Amino acid sequence: MDRLEAIERVAIRAARAAGRIHLKRLSHTNISRKSNAIDLVTEADHESEAAVIDVLQRAFPDHTILTEEGRGGTEAVSEHRWIIDPLDGTTNFAHTFPQFCVSIGYERRGRIQLGVILDVFKKELFVARRGAGASLNRKPIGVSHVRTLDMSLLATGFPYDRRERRRFYLCFWEAFMLRTHGVRRTGSAALDLAWVACGRVDAFWEFGLKPWDVAAGSLLVEEAGGHVSNMDGTMLDISAAQIVASNGRLHQQMIETIAAIRPEAERRHVEMLREGQLEQHAGHD
Ligand code: IPD
Ligand code: CA
Ligand code: CA
Repeated sequence: MDRLEAIERVAIRAARAAGRIHLKRLSHTNISRKSNAIDLVTEADHESEAAVIDVLQRAFPDHTILTEEGRGGTEAVSEHRWIIDPLDGTTNFAHTFPQFCVSIGYERRGRIQLGVILDVFKKELFVARRGAGASLNRKPIGVSHVRTLDMSLLATGFPYDRRERRRFYLCFWEAFMLRTHGVRRTGSAALDLAWVACGRVDAFWEFGLKPWDVAAGSLLVEEAGGHVSNMDGTMLDISAAQIVASNGRLHQQMIETIAAIRPEAERRHVEMLREGQLEQHAGHD
């Protein structure tokens, strides 16, 4: 067994520990707010994070750990870094809508080497090891073969500033709705990426994502034969809060559509801000 295989075993153990908590807490959890009224956090987020960190720290005490809720990760700066979303799809989870997962990425010297995503409710374990392909429940997976947007099914999501920037985000939704068979908003970016990897959707885009939303899923897409990038087509930077993932064949069409729509999206956003200001002024008169 090579070193990365051994690391994969630990990552899967950590994902299963989180999954057990997801199942236990589903419909038995307290919900609180984070940055705003729609950014939620539950006991399951904190407990599953602690469970993942516990497994990883026991096995690799000197590795750096970056987690969404940021409780108990190490400050150590090492060439090995874990990037974890202990519960991706918290809003779904809080409503018992069964689309959520734990996402665990392992990075060495700044390059993702391993991605593990567990959807415990559907009993689906997605794993990708750099250079060794991607699998779903141990069976190899690959991206879809769709070649044109007009034959495609896409996925997207909206970040937690969606109320403030709604017209900007909806402009892209509208553009892709008009060009494809449909657009899905499932509520878990990590699963959206896993679903591009296994061909259930043909491409995915989203603004405002964090490294833990995309670390594991981006490797899954690449190892399944697809492509991931920043919105302008440049090499994906997982800290850049934007991603396009596709089966590869659709990638250029995705990038071109986003570039074509962007000025109009910016214009609509500015227009919305102006309308808000005018309403405020009217309120003061
Ligand atoms: C969210 C989900 C959602 C996406 C949001 C993310 P969370 O993560 O991935 O699909 O649209 O942008 O923040 O908060 O459930 O871990
Ligand atoms: Ca997330
Ligand atoms: Ca989360």
